[in-house]
Amino acid sequence: VGQEKINLDIVTLTRFLTEEQTKHKEATGDFTLLCHALQFAFKSIAYYIRRATLINLTGLAGSSNTTGDDQKKLDVISNDLFIAAMRSSGRVRALVSEEEENIISFDEHPDARYVVACDPIDGSSNLDAGVSVGTIFGIYKLPEGATGTKEDLLRAGTEMVASGFTMYGASAMLVLTMKGGPVNAFTLDNALGEFILTHPNMEIPKKRAIYSVNEGNSLYWEDPVKEYVNELKYPGEGGKPYSARYIGSMVADAYRTLLYGGIFAYPADKKSPKGKLRILYECAPMALVFEQAGGQAVNSKMQRMLEVVPEHIHDRSGIFLGSYDEVQKVIDVHKKFA
Ligand code: AHG
Ligand code: MN
Ligand code: MN
Ligand code: MN
Repeated sequence: VGQEKINLDIVTLTRFLTEEQTKHKEATGDFTLLCHALQFAFKSIAYYIRRATLINLTGLAGSSNTTGDDQKKLDVISNDLFIAAMRSSGRVRALVSEEEENIISFDEHPDARYVVACDPIDGSSNLDAGVSVGTIFGIYKLPEGATGTKEDLLRAGTEMVASGFTMYGASAMLVLTMKGGPVNAFTLDNALGEFILTHPNMEIPKKRAIYSVNEGNSLYWEDPVKEYVNELKYPGEGGKPYSARYIGSMVADAYRTLLYGGIFAYPADKKSPKGKLRILYECAPMALVFEQAGGQAVNSKMQRMLEVVPEHIHDRSGIFLGSYDEVQKVIDVHKKFA
């Protein structure tokens, strides 16, 4: 009988976090504990999403959030799960969520040193169709003496200590990066209940002829965006046009872009002059992932996304992110118009 070789050297997220902690002599273990709480939040959200159709969790909650979105039942439940996990970690001082008008302070943990921004369910319009959605997060460390007020979250993305996102797709995936480090992706093994490191040191291909944008908005686009997308579609004599891929869940469009390369865009336009996606819990966390994987991320003014400082916690921005060369093309077209 042929003997199957099984992998005995699996890196679980738990093992990965422990090994990371021991690499940093000054580490207190607080960040590790925070990540364990994140991990639990992701597993529970994935669990409810997978069962939604069976246990009456599809459809609207009957309310809307600060940015004007109708909340789905799962937006509300995932928000509650996420907040509960962050609170009980004891390591989070305050939190901003798409589904909460104001910052939430965990005053019962006055000594906690981290603040977190989150989009509990990204892509929630896709939920009832069973299309991939995910959770986006950015983590900041509080400066000495700070008490976790709103101002402590109105910071540039360059100050994040870690960020990432999950995608609840055919498998639940977790993409995680720590400042100055590589991008790693983990796949949830449902039987083991563990995230397993399956994509170490992710590097986004330098270019790829795939673009991802809601072209239904093209009527409202500014001229540079129109010209850029036209160049992709009508490359001229002998050129091959780009493929279009748009899921409508940033996490899923971004995950594909990270793996295959290409560009994802949600530009500011005449209808949404500030853009649609929100800086703190959508744009900045994604920008850190893409930069650390070797790509680029800029806003509609072609400024580096990570350097944008929001004025309000729910502020929006236009965004272009993806392969280094593909984003460079957008920047170059915009230069011609400047
Ligand atoms: P959310 O579900 O968290 O409100 O975010 C929705 C976002 C994002 O997932 C996606 O990229 C974009 O909205 C899709 O917008 P359109 O439907 O306008 O294309
Ligand atoms: Mn929403
Ligand atoms: Mn979102
Ligand atoms: Mn959301």
